[in-house]
Amino acid sequence: MKKRVAPGEKKLSPSRKEIWKMFDAISPTYDRVNHLMTAGLDTVWRKKMVSYLPEGKNLLLLDCATGTGDQLFSLLDNSPNIERAIGIDLAEAMLACARKKGERKRYSKKISWQVASVSSLPFDEESFDCITISFGIRNVDDLSTALAECKRVLKSRGRLLILETSLPKNWLIKKFHLLYLRTLLPKLGGWISKNKKAYVYLNETTETFPSGDQFCAILKQAGFNHVSHTPLTFGAVSIYRADK
Ligand SMILES: C[S@@+](CC[C@H](N)C(=O)[O-])C[C@H]1O[C@@H](n2cnc3c(N)ncnc32)[C@H](O)[C@@H]1O
Repeated sequence: MKKRVAPGEKKLSPSRKEIWKMFDAISPTYDRVNHLMTAGLDTVWRKKMVSYLPEGKNLLLLDCATGTGDQLFSLLDNSPNIERAIGIDLAEAMLACARKKGERKRYSKKISWQVASVSSLPFDEESFDCITISFGIRNVDDLSTALAECKRVLKSRGRLLILETSLPKNWLIKKFHLLYLRTLLPKLGGWISKNKKAYVYLNETTETFPSGDQFCAILKQAGFNHVSHTPLTFGAVSIYRADK
């Protein structure tokens, strides 16, 4: 009998288990391609995450799948309420870029970086007020374990904030968006990074990963409360909020 594949756990090449190796390979050009292929909108989306932070001062924040750290820098640049933050990722070369930028931005005392998987977080229960994951959740190999881990290390009433690619609802905009994802994006990303496979993967994960109400249902099933999502830029990306 064929094994049933859960949404967000579809087979891809490279597999989600090995995906951090691909990110290590494209780390030198990752930021440049991001800004170019989103026409700078990635900066606007990351900044928007600030308005979803939990209330209160002295927040302890964990950024999972932090990559080159841009989400964390945007949050710290735009909110005085974060006291300390940790960025974790499996790709060491991505973290090396994050560390360098953090030093340049004089955030060395506020942020620490760690090689770790979101599916096995090396932190005690109830450690953080907020966890952020930007463009990372669709890459993790075991979605349900990752969400359970986030819930475990969040403080009671802590908040999980996820920024992720999604698909526009309007059929015409969706048609053009898919055309862009399938044709121009792999060409552009492949040309700059010299790794076309990486940007074909990006398109495949965007098309197959559950988004909108479907992803909200997964968050609720994982035991989160007050789950909501906000589509941005016609639904090309969405912000998900889920409280413990
Ligand atoms: C598209 S990048 C996103 C980076 C960053 N958050 C951003 O907003 O640009 C996805 C990142 O997820 C990381 N990643 C994939 N699986 C992971 C896992 N299980 N645990 C931690 N990081 C993971 C990859 O190494 C990569 O750096």
